[in-house]
Order: sequence, then structure tokens, then C-alpha cells
Amino acid sequence: MREESRLSAATTDETVRASAAKAAAALLMERCSLLAKVTERRGEILRTFLSPAMDEVHRTMQPWMEAAGMVVTVDRAGNLRGVYGTERGEGAARLLIGSHLDTVPNAGAYDGVLGVLMGLALLEAGAGGKFPFAVEVLGFSDEEGTRFGAPFLGSRAVVDELEGSLLECVDGDGVSVARALRDFAVRRTDLTEATLAASSAAYLEFHIEQGPVLESRNLALGIVEGLAGQSRCSVEFRGVAGHAGTNPMRLRKDALAGAAEWMTGVETIARRFENAVATVGQISAEPGGVNVIPGMVKCSLDLRHAEDAMRAALVQAVFDEAQAVAARRGLGVRAAQYHEHAAVRFDEKVVGMAERASRRAGYSTMRMTGGAGHDAMVIAPHVPSAMVFLRNPGGISHHPDESVAEEDVAAAIHAGLCFLDEFGAHVREKENAKHG
Ligand code: GLV
Ligand code: MN
Ligand code: MN
Repeated sequence: MREESRLSAATTDETVRASAAKAAAALLMERCSLLAKVTERRGEILRTFLSPAMDEVHRTMQPWMEAAGMVVTVDRAGNLRGVYGTERGEGAARLLIGSHLDTVPNAGAYDGVLGVLMGLALLEAGAGGKFPFAVEVLGFSDEEGTRFGAPFLGSRAVVDELEGSLLECVDGDGVSVARALRDFAVRRTDLTEATLAASSAAYLEFHIEQGPVLESRNLALGIVEGLAGQSRCSVEFRGVAGHAGTNPMRLRKDALAGAAEWMTGVETIARRFENAVATVGQISAEPGGVNVIPGMVKCSLDLRHAEDAMRAALVQAVFDEAQAVAARRGLGVRAAQYHEHAAVRFDEKVVGMAERASRRAGYSTMRMTGGAGHDAMVIAPHVPSAMVFLRNPGGISHHPDESVAEEDVAAAIHAGLCFLDEFGAHVREKENAKHG
């Protein structure tokens, strides 16, 4: 084929894909709005691990997925899974596309859900596509850790890492993860094993950026080459509860005042570590009376850094600060890290495919490191992975004002369709190499 006609064939392909992507983006936005109504708390979006609201999300999405030609199941860890291309047989290379269906309290409509619906949209927009591989769309049951404090329960289950002390974490009602899983198996029938097919060859996750960088660079899409590691800790200060009217200030052991001093210390220390972030997002004070000196305070602490050694040093520094504050004030203190996840670097081949696909779809991109937790960080050590971020206006996320522009969703779908092409070429190349 002459160069000119090859170019015009490519342009035609992209014109067709761009218009399919545009229609699919409109539908995806509608579906996000619809799923935003599925909540366990009136007046806000909240969906937690194995909750009835999650059952309803499954009931809503299953017919959409089946209509797109997928065989749909829910696994024992509550992950919604749809496989397309089963006729290619068990051993066919499988492309995983997924994200999570759970939310933080008072969430926005796109964190997680968008990435799951992207898998569905790609199959619909590439309608009837006969790929040389199977596609599995995964809607993970827990990435945020809202119910049990520990994140990634859904994705950890499929890589066989939902075990040990993780199963003993309890929710606000004292129900353990192990018990919740047992109850789920009684409530829902036909659950499948929570494992990944041995033929899983790549994992791709689309997600809103949850930050302002792409917007500031005027880019619709970002190619994520790695994610920051994270630690979750609990820090408790123990003082002496007592009467707020009768105890002079110099004789008090106020656990909440100590915690407050420590928290401002956390902020100061984290600023000294370049690119570190540290957040105390929850505190509870006991006994909690307006006229009672707080005797006991529990704080959550979330710390992140792209370099694991820096994160470990930061954890140590803020724990030392808690000891120092407690010693000055005569308080008891207990600080412990109950969850950590190492930083990950994604697979250069899959990252490169996502980058080339975006370029083919007509979008310039930048490479970036993500600061949020994502299921991809759990899957990446097991299956070659990459992520694509979508511009997130104002960088607002974990908030009801979270948004994404429909045209940026269309950009992602167009890039995703090109990714399917890139991945197909990669699979064929591997098959040819195998068969001589
Ligand atoms: C989840 O989005 C997290 O980064 O904690
Ligand atoms: Mn989130
Ligand atoms: Mn998320």
C-alpha cells in the first residue's frame, strides 16, 4: 500500500473510532449518574465492601455487561467480573480492565466507577470486535478501605493476599472481614473463586487524576508509570479524663490537646520531606462530653511517598514526634502502622502501549506518578499493568463536586480502542514467536 493511502486508511479508522467514542462517552456519563444514586446513606454517595448497595450496583451493571457479550459473575470477595471472548478458550491471553465500585463517604460519582465502566464502554464501542485475546472487566469490591480501614480488599483477594491479620480487621459494628465474607457467601449464591486467570496478560486501569496536574498542563490524558507507596497508621494518646471546671490547666493530662499539638507537628514534619503527604483524617475523643477533659484520643494517619525509604523515614519521624509530645505532657502514647503498600512502577511495555494508543487517538500526554491508592498497585506485581489518568477539573476528588468532562471521557475511550489494537498486535507477535 502506498504511504498516502495507508495514512488515509489510518485517518478513517480514527474518525470512526472518535465518533464511536463520543457516543460511548455520553452513555458512560449517564451510567455514572445512575450509579451515583445507589448508596447506603441518604443524601450522599457511600458504598462499602459487601454492602447491600454494592449488591444493587451488581444488579444494575450485570445486564449492561451481558448485553455487551460478557459472561458475568461475582466472586467470593464481592468483585463483579465480566469476561468477553470466552469462545477463545481458557488459555487465550486475557486483557484485564478494571477499577473499583466502592466509595469514600460523601463521594463523587467517578472515582473508581469510571474505570469499570470504561471496560464496558470499550467493548461496546468496539462492537462485535473479534480480538485475538479475551477481555475481563473487573469491578473491585473495595479499594478505599472505608468499611474496615484497610484498603484494596477486593484486589488483594484475587492475588491471594486477603489473609492473616487483614481478615481480623473489624468494622464499626465489630464485624470482622472474615465474618463479612462468610455472611456474603450465605446472602449471595453462585459466587465464583476470587482468583485471576493464569492467562491474564495485562491490566489496564482508567481513573480520574484526583489532582490538578493534567488540567494545569492542558492535557486530557496522563500516562501513569508508577504509584506512590502508602502507610496507614493509628496513633492513640492516653491522658486522664476529669471535670472541665475543677481541674486547673497546669494539672491536666488532656489527651486531645496533646493530639492537636502532635497533628500540627505531623504537618510541619511532612513538609520537610519533599513530595511527601501526611493526613490525619479521623479523630475520636473519649469520653466526649463538652464539660469533660478528654482522657483518650485515637487518630488515623495516612502517609505517602513515591520512595519507600523516604516513607519509612517519615513514619518514624512522626512516631518520634508523638513520643516527644506525650513525654512533655505526661501522656501515654501508642503508635502503630497497620497497613502499608510499597510504591510500584508499572510495566514499561504496557505503559508504552497506553502512550502510543493515546498518541494514535490524537492526544498528547505526559507521564506521571500517581499519589492515590489504586487497585493497579495490588495487581501490578502479578500482571503487567499500567494506568491512564483523565483530567479532573479543579483536581477535586473524594468530594461530591468531583467531575470529569465528557469530551475527556471520549478521549480516553478513543485511546482505549487504540490500546486494544496495540495489545492485539502484541498478542499476535507473541503467538507468532511461539509458533516459529
Ligand atoms: C484512595 O483513593 C486512596 O488513595 O486512599
Ligand atoms: Mn478514592
Ligand atoms: Mn479510586
